Amino acid sequence: MISSPKILDITSIRNDFPILNEIVNGKQLLYFDNAATTQKPRLVLDALSGYYEHYNANIHRGIHHLAEKATAAFEESRRSMQRFVNSPLAEQIIFTYGTTDSINLVAQTYGRKFLKEGDEIIISTMEHHSNIVPWQMLCEEKGCILKVIPINEEGELLMEEYGKLLSERTKFVSVVHVSNALGTINPIKEIIEKAHAVGAKVLIDGAQASSHLTIDVQDLDCDFYSLSLHKIYGPTGMGVLYGKKELLDAMPPYRGGGEMIKEVTFEKTTYNELPYKFEAGTPNIADVVASKFALDYVESLGKENIASHENELLQHATNALKEIDGLRIIGNAKEKVSVVSFVIDGVHHQDIGVLLDQQGIAVRTGHHCTQPLMQRFGITGTTRASFAVYNTIEEVDRFVTGLRKVVKMLA
Ligand code: ALA
Repeated sequence: MISSPKILDITSIRNDFPILNEIVNGKQLLYFDNAATTQKPRLVLDALSGYYEHYNANIHRGIHHLAEKATAAFEESRRSMQRFVNSPLAEQIIFTYGTTDSINLVAQTYGRKFLKEGDEIIISTMEHHSNIVPWQMLCEEKGCILKVIPINEEGELLMEEYGKLLSERTKFVSVVHVSNALGTINPIKEIIEKAHAVGAKVLIDGAQASSHLTIDVQDLDCDFYSLSLHKIYGPTGMGVLYGKKELLDAMPPYRGGGEMIKEVTFEKTTYNELPYKFEAGTPNIADVVASKFALDYVESLGKENIASHENELLQHATNALKEIDGLRIIGNAKEKVSVVSFVIDGVHHQDIGVLLDQQGIAVRTGHHCTQPLMQRFGITGTTRASFAVYNTIEEVDRFVTGLRKVVKMLA
């Protein structure tokens, strides 16, 4: 039975986020830059300081009380991440420094080992630079060919064109689940099925999707899925790479160092098993430990309830922004998360950002690390407002009023 989403108590949720009380330029902070990074609830902040105050120690190495406690919390966080993406095994969850690191890991290990000259790699027009450049670097090194799925004016992938790009030469497809600049939700299940039909492997960049959508890597049948915890109310510098076990097993290590080895001699080193083979050096223990609390928080609110609230904010903002003369929304996909990007005739996005900031309103302006996407729309950048669970309809109204004021000043 499908249950309808619950209405969340946003006032109480706001109290969980101390930063929302900040005063910026004499005004209460209005934070609409959630696609860049979300704010952190108190229980994540407490988990960070709690770790350092009570059980800071290096993991997997010591036999003393603190080391055992830190190791247990670290591995508990891995199991929590396993549940979050529905990975069959915890060892298929590799901790990284973020989505960028996860994608580079795959390009530099799977890509360098298994792709060769003439092989084709498919990405899309709406990729973040972190899902373009690692593949370009690989293409430069190995002589692979990069192909790009085009998009329509609404900011949706042209799936027919994707079908035409696929062939027996396609060896890898790496596509974003949700566009950070447009909010478009891509039909990744179909993308994955079609890639598999020609024998290609698929990586999904889930940086923007994971705070809004339920992720089920088994249902998707993706080969790799990458995400960043700082976009899910967790700490920065902490990401995940999920991979199919047979692929992770077949891949060489990424970085060499402590922890990723079984045995080292000067003649030969043997590597550790999963997931440690990919986790060289002392990891980001505190942030990994605190990430579990971020996931618990999201789970306690319910992803569907969060999505329903954010969708309400998106609809309200979209309708209000459309009333502003000369404003054009960039990204009008039928399936969207709570991101609204726009340009205004004769007004530079950077000026909008600066003047909104003077009113205590934080948005992102610029190319959003998606320069080819901006080129596709013939623009240099947009102003982007992106909403999270703690935002309110009143804030959307304040933002729109503030924006109208800015337009008047600049026009
Ligand atoms: N990728 C992040 C953004 O969209 C930083 O702002």
